[in-house]
Amino acid sequence: MKCKAHITDLVQQPTACLVVGIYHNNEFPPSTTTLDKLTDGCVQKAVEKSGIEWAIGSSLLIYDSPLNNIERILLLGLGKDEELNPRNFQKLVRRMSRCLRNLQVTQALTCLSEIPIQNKSLHWNLTQQVLISSADGYQYSRTKSNDKNTRPKLEELDISLPTRADITACKAVIRESNAIAEGVEYTRELGDLPGNICTPAYLSRQARHLQQSLPIKVHILEHADLKKAGMGALLAVARGSRKKPRLIIMEYQGAPSTEQPIVLVGKGLTFDAGGISLKPGAKMDEMKYDMCGAASVLGTMQAIAKLAIPIHCIGIIPTSENLPDGNAYKPGDVITSLSGKTIEVLNTDAEGRLILCDALTYSRQFNPAVVIDIATLTGACVVALGGHASGLFSTDEELAQQLLVAGEQVHDRAWRMPLWDDYQEQLKSNFADLANVGGREGGAITAARFLSSFTEKLRWAHLDIAGTAWLSGSKKGATGRPVALLCRYLINQSRMDQTDKKSD
Ligand code: BES
Ligand code: MN
Ligand code: ZN
Repeated sequence: MKCKAHITDLVQQPTACLVVGIYHNNEFPPSTTTLDKLTDGCVQKAVEKSGIEWAIGSSLLIYDSPLNNIERILLLGLGKDEELNPRNFQKLVRRMSRCLRNLQVTQALTCLSEIPIQNKSLHWNLTQQVLISSADGYQYSRTKSNDKNTRPKLEELDISLPTRADITACKAVIRESNAIAEGVEYTRELGDLPGNICTPAYLSRQARHLQQSLPIKVHILEHADLKKAGMGALLAVARGSRKKPRLIIMEYQGAPSTEQPIVLVGKGLTFDAGGISLKPGAKMDEMKYDMCGAASVLGTMQAIAKLAIPIHCIGIIPTSENLPDGNAYKPGDVITSLSGKTIEVLNTDAEGRLILCDALTYSRQFNPAVVIDIATLTGACVVALGGHASGLFSTDEELAQQLLVAGEQVHDRAWRMPLWDDYQEQLKSNFADLANVGGREGGAITAARFLSSFTEKLRWAHLDIAGTAWLSGSKKGATGRPVALLCRYLINQSRMDQTDKKSD
């Protein structure tokens, strides 16, 4: 599904379905008024007959539009002006998507961009229309044999821009949002794939695949290379698995190579059974999602490369399985990480931080401007923030703010958590430089503190996406988060760099 900016008037654009809003008490926003005039009061008549109060999400379909270019008109209730907050607007867009899906049209034209939303800009409005309608069209089918859905799907959503809008800026927002939506979908699909298909080797092939179609260079460290490099922590986690671990390195050079890169590091556990510290059986299948950090790096790199964003970005993915086995690493083992620091393994289920610490150390050789890791790291983060916000941890105020702002812009939100020294105590070990777990209290924070022991002097942030990367229950599935946040952050950074250069 692609969205397109549309600027000509309503009489000209042929459409299978025109979407316009109506406020409570039959008040019309500008496009609805125009449409009513063009149709000799047809809208007004239908509205009066229906007796609908136009609460948010109510709808009415007019089939016999008197205009030749418009096959159907979908009227959507906007509720009262004061009700149009961001959440209700999202509800409205979801409602629009559902109606269009049920109508089985392949194209539609929406006029919802003229609707003002409390505290939000036109750009936010456009972004949400693109991201929500695209997400709504996603359907997992890779491993279902008779679910080849042949129903027509929405392929093109034309978004009518308000008359006074800055057309160029709006077009850029829609173009960016389309690419972001595609990245989100790619990430979702990778997350949803089962662990017997999406393996460390599969993720490596995905990276190579990106290299074929986009200006992305890929380099992969195989098992022997990891040994040679001394990545003791990543190797320890992988010992329980018959599948070989990898370190995938992807480089997108949209800016001169002299520009210090932004490095994204994504946790790529293609299945996490917990290892010898085996997880309980309930919901263990969901641990196929433990590579969603890695998938979000792939999705983000794809999006920014497609958009040709002028930025230098490197993606690093440590990938492995975590399984119990006679050869698996054990509680009590002391391992030596790539940094030289020794780690006492008190729980083999705290494996994410182990594969990440070696990848973070590895990132130093690229002299990064910023390092951001993305990981489904702790159940504690799910308890703290639920599924609505990713946990954001950073020692860098400016970076933390930039990530929070990017998350708000695309509604892929994060919430800042503390990283105070006080928590470091919990990671003390009698037998190594530090322990890999710090007890139940503040579990998301001690995990982040563990990582921070490997990021000294780096501008670094950590996103714990354990609660946001997938949904449980009847809607079980990957969400593609935080691809939108990451893409928006990178695009914002590239713009800042450009203004810096201009003012030089
Ligand atoms: N992948 C899990 C984190 C996780 C758990 C994500 C539940 C989503 C839902 C991670 O590897 C893990 O097992 N973490 C442990 C750490 C603990 C042993 C300190 C956890 O959170 O229980
Ligand atoms: Mn684990
Ligand atoms: Zn894990």
